[in-house]
Amino acid sequence: MRAAVIPDVASRWRVDEVPVPEPGPGEVLVRVRASGLCVNDVLATAGAIPFPSVRPAVTGHEPAGEVVAAGPGVTSRRAGDRVGTTWVRGACGRCGHCRGGPPVTGRAAFACAAPVTTGFSVQGGHAEYLVAGAGETVLLPDGLAFELAAPMLCSGYTAWSALRAGEPAPHERVAVLGIGGVGHLAVQFARACGFETIAVTRSPDKHGLVRRLGADEVVADGAGLREAGGADVLLATGSSYPAAAEALAGLRPGGRLVLAGIDPSEPFTIPAATTLPFFGLGQRVIGATHGGPQVLHEALGLAAAGKVTPMVETFPLKEVAEAFDRVASGDVRFRAVITC
Ligand SMILES: NC(=O)c1ccc[n+]([C@@H]2O[C@H](COP(=O)([O-])OP(=O)(O)OC[C@H]3O[C@@H](n4cnc5c(N)ncnc54)[C@H](OP(=O)(O)O)[C@@H]3O)[C@@H](O)[C@H]2O)c1
Ligand SMILES: [Zn+2]
Ligand SMILES: [Zn+2]
Repeated sequence: MRAAVIPDVASRWRVDEVPVPEPGPGEVLVRVRASGLCVNDVLATAGAIPFPSVRPAVTGHEPAGEVVAAGPGVTSRRAGDRVGTTWVRGACGRCGHCRGGPPVTGRAAFACAAPVTTGFSVQGGHAEYLVAGAGETVLLPDGLAFELAAPMLCSGYTAWSALRAGEPAPHERVAVLGIGGVGHLAVQFARACGFETIAVTRSPDKHGLVRRLGADEVVADGAGLREAGGADVLLATGSSYPAAAEALAGLRPGGRLVLAGIDPSEPFTIPAATTLPFFGLGQRVIGATHGGPQVLHEALGLAAAGKVTPMVETFPLKEVAEAFDRVASGDVRFRAVITC
């Protein structure tokens, strides 16, 4: 089969012929139809977050496709099922974290002793086929096209988990900082729930687009957010911690900053306690990642109902290196999806 292989840290992706994986007991073989290219694939390629340990290194943790074969003992999936899998799809079941019996969430990537991570510890989705435990796959809702389902498996899952983590009350205002793959979906989720929603973007060319996605207002930064009346829940979905810290200027008293973005190079620093002291305003910073199967199910359901629609640019597998360049330079509106 063809797969997008990363020969080494910081090297260019290339499409190689590699063996089709075989499903073992409890596993299914999936013919991948669409595979979203998350900015974390770019970070992993650069070694800014850990480079995949699987060989050959094939990233991609938003794969959607159909089951074509099942290994011994599989009862929950059958050929023809439309499925996807996510970044953290399994945990060891034995470590201190797992003994508490938590659902498999993004947290397990860091808290479990031996998590199974798509595109990191096991082969990812930028390939024609992949194997996964039957129970590590999710059934996709009928009618949700593969190229729209794929971005929901990380980008949408992250955005919806972040909104859930911020626990907005019905009357509260939600702001989304950083309008990329995750942020453009966070805006749509907030609007779908009826929240007044403000987009915070440093990119003037995104203003019209993000309004069309449902933002009630668009501002450039935390100072602009403050002028626009502030927000009770601020979803930091961009990739800059200094930008997230600056945005605290627009967080209302009692507000929650949900840090879902990953900045591998800069710290998150709470500003000096001068005019808007974080402690005095009773604010909170909440880390957020994939919230578990139920949360993913909700996000997929909202996409299938047409309440949230990823904006995607599709690239055939043979153009995966060009797709990578577009994502790395922040040019994609808003998710690159590899089709196989
Ligand atoms: N928590 C999780 O589980 C999880 C899962 C997936 C991704 N992530 C993280 O979530 C973030 C967003 O991912 P994505 O796929 O949406 O990435 P993306 O499409 O590249 O979007 C990131 C956005 O961040 C903003 N940004 C980029 N560089 C910036 C800078 N130097 N200063 C200020 N803002 C900047 C830009 O928004 P504007 O142009 O609007 O300013 C950009 O569109 C990344 O940090 C990623 O690593 C986290
Ligand atoms: Zn991702
Ligand atoms: Zn564990």
